[in-house]
Amino acid sequence: MVKKIEINVSLQVFSKEEWLQEDAKLIEKAKSILEHAHAPYSNFLVGAALLLENGEVFTANNQENVSFPVGVCAERAVLSYAMANSPGVRPKKIAIVAKRRVDEQFATVTPCGLCRQTINEYEVKFQSPIEILMLNPQGEILKASGIDQLLPFRFNDLNS
Ligand code: THU
Repeated sequence: MVKKIEINVSLQVFSKEEWLQEDAKLIEKAKSILEHAHAPYSNFLVGAALLLENGEVFTANNQENVSFPVGVCAERAVLSYAMANSPGVRPKKIAIVAKRRVDEQFATVTPCGLCRQTINEYEVKFQSPIEILMLNPQGEILKASGIDQLLPFRFNDLNS
């Protein structure tokens, strides 16, 4: 070994009392759209709400398919829709919440690998980090300041 390359990552945890109003609103929107998820196979309902720089909020949920790999996560659904309809507007933050259909309380959710790469795409497009807010069962927000905190060593460059 000639050297070691190390990347340290972290999430910030905020109790309900510490939530920003903007974050609380976004989490609420993600919670409402979660109810309409199409998740008959996993019964794992996910809601995502995306805030753009101009104040627009887009929401979406997971849409499963009988052919399992065809299903789409809430995060990719909301990013695709928002970026199709407001292509020039920078995404600022995304809130993600999840719940098993049978449970009362929310489940911990962090975006899957495909969704992390998708968030990365729009960070690169707008040259600006997208905050990722994730709700845990304790009602705390786990906050990643950008995709670098969830996807270190990510694929970003076709030419290097
Ligand atoms: N899912 C999401 O929508 N977002 C995530 O961050 C994790 C997983 C969906 C995919 C599938 O419909 C279900 O949750 C179970 O994996």
